This record gives sequence, C-alpha cells and structure tokens, in this order.
Amino acid sequence: MKLISDSAIVTGAGQGIGMGIAARLMRDGANVLLFGRTQEKVEAAARELNQSMEGRTRAVPFAGNVIHAEDVAKALEVATREFGLPGILVNNAGTATLRPIIDLPEEEFDLVMDINLKGPFLFTQALAKALVAAKQPGSIVNISSLNQMAVTDGAAHYCASKAGLANFSKVAASELGRYGIRVNVVAPGAIRTPLAEGAGLTTGAMEREFLVRTPLGKPCGEPEDVAKVVSFLCSDLASWITGDTLAVDGGNHIRGLHSYADTLGITRPVES
Ligand SMILES: NC(=O)c1ccc[n+]([C@@H]2O[C@H](COP(=O)([O-])OP(=O)(O)OC[C@H]3O[C@@H](n4cnc5c(N)ncnc54)[C@H](OP(=O)(O)O)[C@@H]3O)[C@@H](O)[C@H]2O)c1
Repeated sequence: MKLISDSAIVTGAGQGIGMGIAARLMRDGANVLLFGRTQEKVEAAARELNQSMEGRTRAVPFAGNVIHAEDVAKALEVATREFGLPGILVNNAGTATLRPIIDLPEEEFDLVMDINLKGPFLFTQALAKALVAAKQPGSIVNISSLNQMAVTDGAAHYCASKAGLANFSKVAASELGRYGIRVNVVAPGAIRTPLAEGAGLTTGAMEREFLVRTPLGKPCGEPEDVAKVVSFLCSDLASWITGDTLAVDGGNHIRGLHSYADTLGITRPVES
C-alpha cells in the first residue's frame, strides 16, 4: 500500500482518534501537521509521535481553531513549507454535547455546527483551491459518526452536523473528482477516546448496550480501528473510491439504529 502523498494535515490530532490517525499515517509514510485547539496537547502529541518514528517521518504541531479561516490558511502554509503541499487532509476535529432540543441554547447549537461542519468546509476549500492550482491530486477524509444515520435523543445538533458533513462530502467528491481529488467519509461507532469516556459511552449501562448491539462482540473500538481505514482511503488501494462512507463500528449500524435515550438519561418529557 502506498499513500498518495507524503504530506498530510490531521485536525483534532492532539488526542483520541485524530492522534491515532496521525500515528498511522506517519507509520505508512506521511509527514503530518497536527492541528489542534490546545497548544500543549499538539506539542505533547508531536513529541510522542516523533520519538516513536525515530526520524523516519515527522510530526509538526500547530495550535489553531478549525472555525477560524485565518488559522486554516496559516496551517496550510506551514504544512506546505515543512513537507510540501499536502495531498492528504483528515477533518477529524469534532465536539458533542447532550441536551434536548427544547433546552438547547442557540450558541451551543452554533458551536457544534461550526466545529463539525464549517471547519471541514474551510479546510476542504483551502486545500482544494491549492491542489487545483498546483494540478496535484488529493484525498480528503471527513470523520463523521454513526450519528450521521442514527438518532440519539439529546444530540440533534451533533446528528445534524454529522449528517450535513456526510452530504457535504458527497458534493465535494462530485465537484472535485475531475481534479483527481477524492473525498470520503469514515463513520465511527463508539471508539475509546477522551470524548467517548467523557460522554459515558465506554462504561456501565452504555457499554452493555453497545455490546448487545455490536455484532463483532466488543462494546467499542480503538482509535487504530479508524486510523487504518483512513490510511487505506488515502492510499493507491482506494484510487477508485470517492463520495463513499465507510462505517467503522463493529457492525453496530446493522443491528438497528437506536436512540439510547433512556440509558443516557437525557430525555425529559415535554410538559403539556
Ligand atoms: N469517540 C467516539 O466514540 C466517536 C464516535 C463517532 C464519531 N467520533 C468523531 O471522531 C472525531 C474525533 O473524536 P474523539 O473521540 O477523538 O474526540 P476527542 O477525544 O474529544 O478529540 C477531539 C480533538 O479535536 C480537537 N478539537 C475540538 N474542537 C476543535 C476546534 N474547534 N479546532 C481545533 N481542534 C479542535 C480537540 O482539541 P482540544 O482537546 O484541544 O479541545 C481534541 O483534541 C470527532 O469528529 C467525533 O465526532 C467519535
């Protein structure tokens, strides 16, 4: 397997799935700009990854916010200076909160939509412009969620952002295919990360529910399960794949999409 580029940007790469993706791309031959909100996190991640790669490939940390176009432009400039114009972009940064629609403040709705949907738009636009101008091919992978299909009560804003990202990706694939730029989606189920642990997805009643609903017999996957699929999509092996979504969820989606509302304890009756 050969990656289509040795220069990559991964957003939300300071921990969790994003750091796992960066590690995998580095092992498979790419230098990676680790884009993340918290400087200390991306710096610590870069130190750890550079140490494990012993100079074979490089990680460069970059602190920025995916919702700010100037941070996106600067990150692209730094990655291009360090490694050459990136042919690989993984829009992984994301956030989630749980709150029923009737209690959801407008600002919280906007923030989730901005990070999960506008961020990938800004990065896709900036990189696609540069790739088209340079006549260079590319692979863009957007990290969505089982929630692009499944309903979780209390997560209307998150579900809408991920469903939006899935359809955004199809249009991007359609528009950019003629330039040799492929755009695909990876939709994880529960994956053991700080976000999933913080949301209570990996322990107690939620862990038991995921176990029952996951054919492959584990309640959740690991960042590496997602990372190896992303790397495949950024390689020559996936040269005829664009506009697609790969579910990486141990088969959870085929057991019926389920709301988890009672288990999460976030649904409250609408008062009459
Ligand atoms: N874990 C799961 O079970 C699961 C399931 C389905 C889909 N996903 C998706 O997978 C992706 C990664 O999730 P994860 O579980 O690895 O989450 P995580 O542990 O919370 O890591 C997310 C990373 O994104 C960064 N980030 C958040 N907002 C950002 C912003 N505005 N600008 C730049 N960086 C930002 C965070 O940086 P800071 O920590 O510095 O804020 C953090 O390092 C997300 O898109 C999520 O929706 C996860």
